[in-house]
Amino acid sequence: MDRIAIIGGARLTGEIPISGAKNSAIKLMAASLLTDEPLRLTNMPRLADTRFLGRLLQRLGTEVIERDGPDGAETLLTTREVVSGFAPYDLVRQMRASFNVLGPLLARSGQAKVSLPGGCTIGARPVDLHLKALEALGARIDLHEGYVYAQAPRGLKGGQIEFPFVSVGATEHALLAAVLAEGQTVMTNAACEPEITDLAECLNKMGAKVAGAGTSTIRIEGVRRLTGATHAVLPDRIETGTYAMAAAMAGGEVRLTRTRSDFLTTLIDKLVEAGVEVVPHNDGLTVRRDPSRRLKAVELETDPYPGFATDLQAQFMALMTLAEGESVIRETIFENRFMHVPELARLGAEIAVQGGEARVRGVETLEGAQVMATDLRASVSLVIAGLAARGETVVNRVYHLDRGFERLEEKLSACGAQIRRIKGEPEPQVEE
Ligand code: EPZ
Repeated sequence: MDRIAIIGGARLTGEIPISGAKNSAIKLMAASLLTDEPLRLTNMPRLADTRFLGRLLQRLGTEVIERDGPDGAETLLTTREVVSGFAPYDLVRQMRASFNVLGPLLARSGQAKVSLPGGCTIGARPVDLHLKALEALGARIDLHEGYVYAQAPRGLKGGQIEFPFVSVGATEHALLAAVLAEGQTVMTNAACEPEITDLAECLNKMGAKVAGAGTSTIRIEGVRRLTGATHAVLPDRIETGTYAMAAAMAGGEVRLTRTRSDFLTTLIDKLVEAGVEVVPHNDGLTVRRDPSRRLKAVELETDPYPGFATDLQAQFMALMTLAEGESVIRETIFENRFMHVPELARLGAEIAVQGGEARVRGVETLEGAQVMATDLRASVSLVIAGLAARGETVVNRVYHLDRGFERLEEKLSACGAQIRRIKGEPEPQVEE
C-alpha cells in the first residue's frame, strides 16, 4: 500500500490546475448506457473511481476508450447494446456510485439486477429514495438476497417524485431514468448541486428535455431515444476547495486555475472570516495567507448545496486545528463523518466530538506523526494538516486519496510542498 510523506512548514506558491469533477464524471459515464451512440466526455479526471466505473460499464456492454484529446484527457463511451443488466455485489460494494447504473439500465432495456451497496465508512447510506423514485416512474422493484431486481417491461412512465429530503445520488438516479420515461416527470425537493446541473446539461445535449436542474424542482419531458454528444466535465469544486484550504493552512499564495469560484461561495465566506484572502478571477481563484498571522476560529454547519459541502468538512477542520479560539463544526449530512478526528489528534489537534458536533480548540503547533486515511476527504484533511505540522507526517492507506484526487503530490509539490509518495504493495479492494 502506498503512503504519502510530508515534511511540514513549506509555504505554497504557484498555480494548481483543477481537474474535472469526480462526482460529476461518474454519473456522466453512467449516462452512456442511455444511448447506442458514442458519448465523448472531455476534461475527464483520471482516478481510481472513474477507472473502476469504466470496468463495470464494460461488463454491461459499453466500449470505453480513454485517450488524450486536444484539451487533455477524454473518454469515449459507446453502448451499442446492453449485453448484461447485472451489477454484482463485489463491484457495487467497492464503489457506491455504481448503484446508479440501475436507472439507466432499466430505462434502456426494461430490466436490471443490481446489488444493494451496503453501508460505508461515513454512514449507513441507504438507497430507499433511489428505489422510491424508480417506483414512481412505474418500475417494479423486488429485493432478494441483497439484490434489487427492477423491471419495467413496457418502459418507464413519467411521474411525480417528491423527495422527503435532499439526496444528490437519488436526484441524479431519477434523472438518469426519467429522461427515457414516457410523459412528464416532476421532481420536487431535488438536490441543487452543480453536478446535477452538469448531468442535466449533458443529457440535454443527448436530446433529453430537462428543465430546472440547479433548482429544487426539475421537470423532465421524456423522449423515445437519446443520441451521442460531447460534453466537458465541470471542474471539481471539492478539489478546488481542498487546495484553497491547503494554501490557507501552509501560507503563501496559490492560484487555482481551470475552475470556478462561484461554486464555492460558502467556503470562500468562511475562509475570509478565518482571515484568509481570496480573490476570485475568470479562471478560478487566488488564495493568500501570511503564515505569521494566526487564523481565526469559525463556526459552520454542513448542508446541501449551496450550503457548506460535507465533502469539505474534514479539510476545514484540519485548518481550524491551528486557528485561534474554538471553532464549532456540525455535520448534518452523514452520521459518521468525523473519522479524521482521532487521526488529527495524533498530530496534536484538540477536538471534542459529541454527536454530530465537533469542537476544535486551536493549538499553536501540530507535530508530524503516522496517521491512517479512512475515507477520501478524511485522508486529504490529514495531508492538509501535515503541510503545517512540524516534522514528518506519513499518511497510510493512500488508496483512498487516489479515488478522488488526481496527481495530488505532483500538484502540491509544484507549489513548493515537501511531499512524496512511498510506493508499497498493490492496493486492496476498498469500499466507500
Ligand atoms: C454524494 O453522495 C457524493 N458522492 C458524496 O461525496 C457527497 O458527500 C454527498 O453526495 C453529499 O453531497 C457522489 O457523488 C459519488 P446523498 P450521495 O444521497 O449521493 C441519505 C465523496 O467523498 N440518503 O446526497 O450518496 C444519506 O445516507 C462522496 O466524494 C438516504 O437516507 O449522498 C445521507 O445521509 C462521499 N436514502 C443523505 O441522505 C437514500 O436513498 C445525503 O446523501 C439516499 C440518501
